[in-house]
Amino acid sequence: MSRIIAVANQKGGVGKTTTAINLAASLAATKRRVLLVDLDAQGNATMGVGVDKYKLAKTTCDVLLEQARAADVVQYLPSLGFSVMPANGDMTEAEIRLRDVAAGDFSLKSALAEIAADFDYILLDCPPALSKLTVNAFVAADGVLIPMQCEYYALEGLTALVDTINKIRRVINPRLEIEGLLRTMYDPRNNLANDVSEQLLQHFGDKVYRTMVPRNVRLAEAPSHGLPVIGYDPASSGAKAYLALAGELLRRHDGGQLPLG
Ligand SMILES: Nc1ncnc2c1ncn2[C@@H]1O[C@H](COP(=O)(O)OP(=O)(O)O)[C@@H](O)[C@H]1O
Ligand SMILES: [Mg+2]
Repeated sequence: MSRIIAVANQKGGVGKTTTAINLAASLAATKRRVLLVDLDAQGNATMGVGVDKYKLAKTTCDVLLEQARAADVVQYLPSLGFSVMPANGDMTEAEIRLRDVAAGDFSLKSALAEIAADFDYILLDCPPALSKLTVNAFVAADGVLIPMQCEYYALEGLTALVDTINKIRRVINPRLEIEGLLRTMYDPRNNLANDVSEQLLQHFGDKVYRTMVPRNVRLAEAPSHGLPVIGYDPASSGAKAYLALAGELLRRHDGGQLPLG
């Protein structure tokens, strides 16, 4: 059965897209069948896997508005070993038009149901807002993976995000759980980062991934080559971190207990 994971945080620039692309590539490297769904009008995940967002015949927007079948929009990327459902600026239209559709919160869920059997993991790269598109992702998902930077305001934003997740779980999608919290761009020499990280562990316990993603310039460079970091610089600290994250995620779903730490 496939597992659908929304990569979400309403804050921009926290590493959602970087995480979605590199976790997709790392899971694919372990022979899982993976689909990366771009839900952001910026199309960063699309460009980051080497697909030109300006030359798309059909996008996630068409799927959400029922103008195309998911299977016809998904592209397999042979050199990367996983598939993408690409997006571009048209997503802004989807965001607005879905507000007028009675079942607008269920569009993504219905569309993915048709293709879910083809994949082990479906990763949803969410836009930086608790918008209709993010709600679609939470309705479709089994879990929410929350990338976050350990900064002063990070915990405040987390409260609103967790409230939204809890509300969707109560009202629409009882399966939805917090998949895990991922510390991104982590600098262990920064005292504030360590304080925030400590608070995170106190609040969320073993929901916090043991893997931390360090600040690594290779992660920032890779998208301009249309490559995940394991394709761009497999020896980099960023590549190692995302492979470790994939390992951790797989161990959790194999039913293994997470060691306390
Ligand atoms: N661990 C990291 N080290 C260095 N740069 C990073 C790292 N993670 C993300 N970045 C860079 O930070 C910026 C924001 O990351 P991105 O994944 O696009 O965030 P979001 O999708 O949450 O807006 C991008 O330029 C990205 O390349
Ligand atoms: Mg993004």
